[in-house]
Amino acid sequence: MSKPKVFVSRIIPDIGMEMLHQIAEIEVWPDRLPPTYELLLEKVKGKDGLLCLLTDKIDRNLVETAASSLKVISQMAVGYDNIDIAAATAKRIPVGHTPGVLTDATADLTWALLMTASRRILEADKFTRSGEWKTWEPTLLLGADLSSATLGIVGCGRIGQAVARRAAGFGMRILYYNRHRLERSLEESLGLEYREFDVLLAESDFVTIHTSLSQDTYHLFSDSQFQLMKQNAILINTARGSIVDADALYRALTSGKIASAALDVTDPEPIPLDSPLLTLDNLIITPHIGSASRQTRDKMAMMAASNLAAGLKGEKLPYCVNPQVYS
Ligand code: DGY
Repeated sequence: MSKPKVFVSRIIPDIGMEMLHQIAEIEVWPDRLPPTYELLLEKVKGKDGLLCLLTDKIDRNLVETAASSLKVISQMAVGYDNIDIAAATAKRIPVGHTPGVLTDATADLTWALLMTASRRILEADKFTRSGEWKTWEPTLLLGADLSSATLGIVGCGRIGQAVARRAAGFGMRILYYNRHRLERSLEESLGLEYREFDVLLAESDFVTIHTSLSQDTYHLFSDSQFQLMKQNAILINTARGSIVDADALYRALTSGKIASAALDVTDPEPIPLDSPLLTLDNLIITPHIGSASRQTRDKMAMMAASNLAAGLKGEKLPYCVNPQVYS
């Protein structure tokens, strides 16, 4: 019996590729850069499955183009704001994603960025390499203490909660804002205090973003939110770039409305090299590497392959974004 046909939009870790070869006849996009939208559109025609990444635009047109044969879309990421879920659901195509396995890696990176920004590590490294280190100085490169500072977590799902667990070890006061308030018992066990969004911004020394991107969270941080924040505040974003209005962030960082920021995500990605943000010393930017640990990416690849395998067999996806397709 012939194997189902699958398009894989980039080479994924070996362990995932091996699983895919066992279950399907796969066509893999071999380049470092993603296929263009037009190419993707061509490639999905006649395929039974699609394994895609957050860099692929899976819009209604694409879903409808592929719908006559497509049985499953499996995204190797927890976020799926690049996929038109309503369009897939309308065509009864299940969409899989990879929640849970990248929680710790992303929380770790959040913490790495928070500490790098708070203790000005990048500036200090530059300072050392440029030969400016002449002696020990009482006021050299002073940063911010974490102990007894207030951390504000915006979006307190799995990753936000993992960030909170780490914060407890640093003796921080931890506030959170979430669309739905968490169970009181969970708040208590994590040492979390609930605040309305504006109040959290006004009270926090560090604000870290862990909400998903939606119409409601697009540019959630703009001029008026920066206005509310403390002047010593440090903003961390490891969620999605367009939750922060980049122009407003530039204004906030250059006018001293907030002290500094560290971003693992930008809008657009990659950040254009002529972006004024790249001229700032009080901003750290990493290239969307929140989940980039070897073990985590292996787990994501396996999970994406398992979702795909289930979808090809007509079984329920283990991690499905739109379970309504089964009702
Ligand atoms: C995700 O999974 O959504 C991250 O942004 C990339 O791992």
